[in-house]
Amino acid sequence: MCGIVGYIGDKSPVEVIMTGLHRLEYRGYDSAGVAVVNKDGLGCIKSLGKLKILDAKLEESPLLGQTGIGHTRWATHGVPSEVNSHPHFNVAKTIAVVHNGIIENYYELREQLKATGIEFRSQTDTEVIAHLVDKYYQGDLFAAVKRALKDCEGAYAIGVICKDQPDVLVAARHGSPLIVGLGENEGYIGSDVPAIMKYTRKVMYIENGHVCEITRQGVKVEDVNGNPVQMEVKNIEWDDAAAEKEGYPHFMLKEIHQQAAVLRNTLGGRVHEGSDEVQLTDMNISKDELKACKKIFVVACGTAWHAGMVGKFLIEKFAKVSVELDLASEFRYRDPVIPENSIMIPVSQSGETADTLEAIRIAKSRGAQVAAIVNAVGSSVARESHGVVYQQAGPEIGVASTKAYTSQCMAFALFAIWLGETRGVLSKVEAKELITHLRQIPDKVDEILNNQDKIKELANRPEYRDAVGCFFLGRNVNFPSALEGALKLKEISYIHAEGYAAGEMKHGPIALVTETFPVICIAVKGETYDKMVSNIQEIAARKGLIISVATEGDKSIQAHSKDVIYIPECFEAFSPILVAVPLQLLAYYIAANLGCDVDQPRNLAKSVTVE
Ligand code: M6R
Repeated sequence: MCGIVGYIGDKSPVEVIMTGLHRLEYRGYDSAGVAVVNKDGLGCIKSLGKLKILDAKLEESPLLGQTGIGHTRWATHGVPSEVNSHPHFNVAKTIAVVHNGIIENYYELREQLKATGIEFRSQTDTEVIAHLVDKYYQGDLFAAVKRALKDCEGAYAIGVICKDQPDVLVAARHGSPLIVGLGENEGYIGSDVPAIMKYTRKVMYIENGHVCEITRQGVKVEDVNGNPVQMEVKNIEWDDAAAEKEGYPHFMLKEIHQQAAVLRNTLGGRVHEGSDEVQLTDMNISKDELKACKKIFVVACGTAWHAGMVGKFLIEKFAKVSVELDLASEFRYRDPVIPENSIMIPVSQSGETADTLEAIRIAKSRGAQVAAIVNAVGSSVARESHGVVYQQAGPEIGVASTKAYTSQCMAFALFAIWLGETRGVLSKVEAKELITHLRQIPDKVDEILNNQDKIKELANRPEYRDAVGCFFLGRNVNFPSALEGALKLKEISYIHAEGYAAGEMKHGPIALVTETFPVICIAVKGETYDKMVSNIQEIAARKGLIISVATEGDKSIQAHSKDVIYIPECFEAFSPILVAVPLQLLAYYIAANLGCDVDQPRNLAKSVTVE
């Protein structure tokens, strides 16, 4: 979604801002702009499309100054256009604003402002903020922003500069993420850590309702009523190289290849060498609460929801607690019944997904204990939950989620074992056996990654690469694998793909199967293997182009399949982690062969911070 960068100090604001905006490109955007305070007032350049267009414009007409703000926009109100791109201004062009989020009462505010004679330039909700700050400005930008925000409802992170106060940068947050970075006689704002990590590692995570005045002398934080707020300064320990591609043509491919290491991380922090006991201390759920728990709610969106489906299977199997799985966007509107002693597990890579956050708030207001599975450290989901299991996957830049998914599945496996043992459903011996299986997973992922030639070859075959549509089928714990495989393929290659529970085929979807229709069948050894083989035979009888994903050594599957991708033998309950990898690779190579923008697919944003 939208990205914000701002700077005050001795460096070139445009250079800092453009570096930051490039670092945020992975979030998805349709236009961009930058504004700087200089001796002539406020200079601004905007462009529709990719940042390289804005780079070229800035090279042609450099913007000089000492304080600036920049933005990448992902349209919500008003079409993607130069006029609607940020920054937005007051009538006299003395105040500039960048904004992430949505001002929900913007229409009402816009009408009120229009009634006073103000002519709006854009169709955006953001422009009302610029006019409101102007309305309340009496020589103190900080005070004017605080007052203006009292009129605004909705979600926002904003950065504001003013021609008459070139030494001040004001920022505020309510619902959309915002950080302030600190340096020597300088300050930064960003909507995400990568935006400013080239320049500083010292950051403050701004909380909802807080407004900051940033000058070269330091940062003052208050709430909208002027009450001072003490902020903690945190040190970012991410490796800068983590945000680069490290020789891979796309971030997605790099992230697929990071998975073995990531899974070792997810596991390593929780099951220490020489011990077979799971420790999830940051979940902040006591043994008594775990024992008393009658129901678990899992909420998430997209790929994280697929991981949640794997989680439901694992928790019910190993801990015997009933799990309700919901899309966060549905949970928040369905008036859910949340019994006493319920636990909610929200799942989110970014930790900033608007619907997931709202689901958390509802669950908390109804008395549930909320323990999140999250990747982004310090994100809103992590902070708003009572406890957390960090996935330890590092920053995920590709819009298509890969390492975040497999590490979420791993985190669920750990949670299920921990819960099962605590509740006395699993014996120590059984838990130990499960841990042994989990410990083998990263090496098996490496094995798949080291043997990907077959997948590359299939991805280049015209019958698969140029297909107009296809199915992914799975059963049991690999039903979510089918959904995830289909989502991966469709979001990056634009090939229409549907995931189904294989047993559902006969209830309608099989009507689509013809001799040019690929069907990817997940048929790893396990409880429903024979059922899956029957489904494969039914598709073969309709001449569907079957690619089976099967367990190494299963020769008989070849008789019914056009092609087979093998994965190492694996304990069935944990097989979704392995199955995900060849499906990610297949989607990646097909999309790359088709020349698609793999890391930033059309219409998609990395982090969906509006509902
Ligand atoms: O950051 P989150 O995990 O909360 O994001 C949820 C979805 O938006 C995300 O998984 C999305 O579906 C990805 N594009 C999938 O690859």
